[in-house]
Amino acid sequence: VTSNELAGKHLVITAGPTREAIDPVRYLSNHSSGRMGFALATAAQRMGAHVTLVAGPCQLPTPAGVTRIDVVSAEQMNTAVMGVIAEADIFIGCAAVADYRPTHVADNKIKKDNDAMHIALVKNPDILANVAALAKAPFTIGFAAETNDVAHYAQDKLQRKKLNMIAANDVSDTNIGFNSEDNAMLLFWRDTNNTVQQQALARASKSAIAQQILQQAAKLLS
Ligand code: C5P
Repeated sequence: VTSNELAGKHLVITAGPTREAIDPVRYLSNHSSGRMGFALATAAQRMGAHVTLVAGPCQLPTPAGVTRIDVVSAEQMNTAVMGVIAEADIFIGCAAVADYRPTHVADNKIKKDNDAMHIALVKNPDILANVAALAKAPFTIGFAAETNDVAHYAQDKLQRKKLNMIAANDVSDTNIGFNSEDNAMLLFWRDTNNTVQQQALARASKSAIAQQILQQAAKLLS
């Protein structure tokens, strides 16, 4: 499906996991195929947008007509996003960014000499919150993957991170999310009176869900 609902708009989208090095051969990461972010990039491009996709390590082909910037760590993702965000009308933080990274990256492979080991961690930059806090912030959309109290945590994030919209899903349901082709989401946004509105997006392909999210955002922007 192609349309012109996002014609002339520049979107910056993060997708996939990040990897946080422990030593030259090991890293911390999380479950994320990148599919939802890539589906959003594909759908936005088909709706006429100019799309920059900042992708963590994932095995997905670059959608046609999309500019892709590959990164590995959260800090690299933050730097890449900040480098292109001035141009953006809409930012979508869809990446599963690692919340923490090892405080020190060992120069050499750590040996298994001890029965127990401890890795000190430090908090990563919150890319989504950083974008939303910019003086000239674009329309900012976040994602919330939760295992419980989905609606509660999503609305809390909408307010706390000062987002325009948040799409939340229940990742305890193994039929959707993560590596699945499908998703089902609860969408929350703030209307012109700052009142929170919501819409349930029934289980559908990630590409259909992506279209519905972008259509709602386009409506709010126009
Ligand atoms: O707080 P939480 O990590 O659950 O928020 C999820 C949302 O924040 C997602 O949109 C994710 O892409 C974004 N995020 C981010 N940078 C982080 C952590 C999360 O952009 N360090």
